[in-house]
Amino acid sequence: MAGDKPYPEVPIGNINHSNAAVVIIGAGISGMCTAIDLVKRNNCRNFVVLEKSAGLGGTWHDNKYPGCCCDVWSMLYSYSFAQNSAWTREYPGQEEILRYLVGVAQEYNLYQHVRFNSTVEDATWDEEEKKWQTRVTVASGSKDAEFNPEYTIRSDFLVSAVGQLNQPSWPDIHGVESFEGKTMHSARWDWSYDLKDKKVAMLGNGCTSAQIVPEIVKVAKHVTIFQRTPNWIFPRMDKPVSPLWQTIYKYVPPIRWRKRAGQMDYRESFYDAIYDGNSDLAQLCKTMHQQKLETELPSRKDLWEKLTPNYNPGCKRIIITDDYLPTLGLPNVDLETRSIDSISGNKVKVKNDDGEVVDVEPEFDLLVCATGFKTVDFMHPIQMYGKNGRSIRDIWKDGAQAYNGTVVEDMPNFGMLYGPNTNLGHNSIILMIESQSRYINGLIKPVLDARRSNQTLSLSPKSSVIKDYNEKLQKELLNSSFNDPNCNSWYKNDAGIITNNWSRTVIDYQEQLADVNYEDFEVEGSGAEIVRKKKVQHVGRVKEETSVSDRTLLVLGAVSTAAVVGGFLMRNSRYLSGVRLR
Ligand SMILES: Cc1cc2nc3c(=O)[nH]c(=O)nc-3n(C[C@H](O)[C@H](O)[C@H](O)COP(=O)(O)OP(=O)(O)OC[C@H]3O[C@@H](n4cnc5c(N)ncnc54)[C@H](O)[C@@H]3O)c2cc1C
Ligand SMILES: NC(=O)c1ccc[n+]([C@@H]2O[C@H](COP(=O)([O-])OP(=O)(O)OC[C@H]3O[C@@H](n4cnc5c(N)ncnc54)[C@H](OP(=O)(O)O)[C@@H]3O)[C@@H](O)[C@H]2O)c1
Repeated sequence: MAGDKPYPEVPIGNINHSNAAVVIIGAGISGMCTAIDLVKRNNCRNFVVLEKSAGLGGTWHDNKYPGCCCDVWSMLYSYSFAQNSAWTREYPGQEEILRYLVGVAQEYNLYQHVRFNSTVEDATWDEEEKKWQTRVTVASGSKDAEFNPEYTIRSDFLVSAVGQLNQPSWPDIHGVESFEGKTMHSARWDWSYDLKDKKVAMLGNGCTSAQIVPEIVKVAKHVTIFQRTPNWIFPRMDKPVSPLWQTIYKYVPPIRWRKRAGQMDYRESFYDAIYDGNSDLAQLCKTMHQQKLETELPSRKDLWEKLTPNYNPGCKRIIITDDYLPTLGLPNVDLETRSIDSISGNKVKVKNDDGEVVDVEPEFDLLVCATGFKTVDFMHPIQMYGKNGRSIRDIWKDGAQAYNGTVVEDMPNFGMLYGPNTNLGHNSIILMIESQSRYINGLIKPVLDARRSNQTLSLSPKSSVIKDYNEKLQKELLNSSFNDPNCNSWYKNDAGIITNNWSRTVIDYQEQLADVNYEDFEVEGSGAEIVRKKKVQHVGRVKEETSVSDRTLLVLGAVSTAAVVGGFLMRNSRYLSGVRLR
């Protein structure tokens, strides 16, 4: 049957609708990166990307709320292999990031592989066939559902690229579902709703809320922010990138490389600030926060204490902003710090210090839930059944864990991106994703090699390897600011185990994943010999930090400028016609 051994070449044809070498779940930054690496590193074009949205981009497709932007510089929040000289701002906005990702997808011909409106419900490992059977439902109401509303696709390898922040978390507040005005989650913004003259209740004051509030106060009549816990705030200092600089980045790549490397160096050096509450950098964060309160809210001393956290910087994500605090001083903005009791009709009820429940004025038209995501339930709500029918929910009953954040016990030929313990508080997630994509492609390689020679191969991480890895990781996290008992965050599960964050720097992580050691895996199948012969696959890492001196950079800059000028003159020889060689 089509899709079996050996694989048909590109593209996936109609006859292969339910067979592929590799299935990737999710077409965000992770899914796209894995797909690109499949082609570049494994010469594999027999793959399908299943995406439940109607477009790609993941986070940057979903989060269209007013003011949505990135808190990592544009030059660093982009793929190392698809650097962009044309960013219009130092910090990119959501629309520009989405445009960038669409451009990358077009450049690498990814669209032919992506099936939109396609939701993965569950996946089951077929031990005999050594294949995954992934069950997909197609969005009802879409034309594609008229062909096949539900089907199962078989693959030799399955990749989860569903992210950590894509399932909205709604607040568990009595009466929230019966609010009589309009309700929106920040990650499901309804742009058809006119904010003009509306009274808005904003639940939450995290990074998302801090981006929305300064934008909506410009239109809405009144905004009340309901804050449970204050956050540390750090300056953003965003500015446009001029056309001149865009041209320089385009035509003198070493300058662009140096800028990216400098940003990487800076961000990595910031690791101490978010990891160690006693570090000088953590102290600097506190000082900067206080300075911002004094300069941006000089006449609102009454708010300073309410806005100052009692936990270490980094325990929650630091908010990088220059317009949130000034907004809190506006006459049409209230900061409400009493705890919410319930919602009834158009009213939000709060508890006074003495326990009395009172209504907050005014009555609201719109309730915005900037209340984050279901983060510790990795891959929610997908069900997975691995070896011996073991379910991933059972494996993770005490908290999600994965070796290198990518591979899970009893889940053969399966890899995850942005999985357990791979989130960062100090640097760009894309750097982590690129490492994971290389590593997972290093696992996919022998599986494809086996199938191409009519053999089977399955690789699942040894439980002892996962145990050792996780014990070491959790020990490191124990001493980190993420574990500060004075704060709760989406990094920890109910038992207080930090399931989401990585414990060290990005470079440490990149080095950890630079080699795929097949001895870390249980190996089964007729193709087992392939990995017994080649025990380690070096996949390397992208060296992002500064690695050349200014002098070398100058030479490289001069050479590339000369090449560009030379190329221009060759194509426009009329400029040379007046030049005579003696
Ligand atoms: C508002 C916001 C701002 C952020 N800003 C930053 C930042 O400044 N710096 C930073 O480093 N990180 C930031 N992040 C984190 C961001 O999520 C990552 O940087 C990155 O975009 C993750 O990409 P991903 O592809 O792994 O996941 P996602 O972007 O979440 O993509 C996952 C994809 O999988 C799809 N999917 C999920 N379940 C299924 C299913 N069952 N079937 C089919 N498809 C499915 C989803 O629809 C989605 O398209 C931010 C996150 C948010 C929410
Ligand atoms: N690049 C950026 O600038 C940027 C922008 C947006 C998002 N992000 C990423 O996305 C992540 C999520 O950010 P987010 O702001 O969407 O979510 P979040 O950080 O999880 O914040 C959720 C907010 O909602 C509050 N909340 C939750 N449940 C509540 C309830 N029942 N009652 C009252 N308040 C409630 C939380 O209060 P408590 O603090 O008390 O729990 C918190 O203030 C960030 O950590 C970051 O990684 C980044």
